[in-house]
Amino acid sequence: MQILVTPQELNEQCREWKAAGRTVALVPTMGYYHAGHEDLMRHGKSLADHLVVSLFVNPAQFGPAEDFEAYPRNSERDTAIAGACGADVLFMPQSGDMYAPDHGTWVDVPAMAQKLCGQSRPAFFRGVCTVVLKLFLLSQADAAVFGNKDWQQQAIVKRMARDLNVPIRIETRPTAREDDGLALSSRNVYLTPAERAQAPEIYLGLKQAQDMVSRGEKDPELLRAAVLRRWAERLPLGRLDYLSVVHPETLETVNCVAAPALAACAVHLGKARLIDNMLLYP
Ligand code: PAF
Repeated sequence: MQILVTPQELNEQCREWKAAGRTVALVPTMGYYHAGHEDLMRHGKSLADHLVVSLFVNPAQFGPAEDFEAYPRNSERDTAIAGACGADVLFMPQSGDMYAPDHGTWVDVPAMAQKLCGQSRPAFFRGVCTVVLKLFLLSQADAAVFGNKDWQQQAIVKRMARDLNVPIRIETRPTAREDDGLALSSRNVYLTPAERAQAPEIYLGLKQAQDMVSRGEKDPELLRAAVLRRWAERLPLGRLDYLSVVHPETLETVNCVAAPALAACAVHLGKARLIDNMLLYP
């Protein structure tokens, strides 16, 4: 596995592969790998002749009061994992090489980016889209892989790629979970033992909504109310950011679960802000 650090090096290597008729898959990451990242990488490896994994904690997607400095990092361990998952290139750029001091161009999908997580993280998806498009352009990847835990992110990236005619296929993978249901996240490391003990309730609340829908409930407000009641009892350390039932592609709020809808939430638990989601099938 090659470790490349400048955008030019990455672009030259990928152009060489593409000129030789090879295909490239890209897995964009911010590191601190868990089993979910490994699944994205192994899937990426199966999609193309060459796998590029990027590891870049992207400052543009963190707000001023967020955890950019504290975001967990372990590049030595991550390098070993990316190699074991079959990456041909691990791209680890410096911020200054990705963003010129006078960087002034942003990619935004405002109608989708202002919903759900965008309510409390207004510049987040603009930062994500901008760095992801840079990585698409540099790698000329034929396919890129994203996780469904970040459902809103993958929906927005798909829309961006479609709107801008980026010739890339976006593939998604199911959320990787602990045995008790907690979605794997690099930020789980922030949880204290007491918070960790309550954290699976996030998943269990969403699962309760799915159970209600399976039994015929179609009213999103009643689903929300039941989940919030449950969390008030069993997730007292949590502070709700949002819980919404939306169309899985447009992210517009739905007023009836007549077709598959997405229940999506964000909950602050101590220092961690955890997100999760579940497709509700009527
Ligand atoms: O999901 C992430 O880790 C990041 O948002 C991504 C896609 C790597 C962009 O920085």
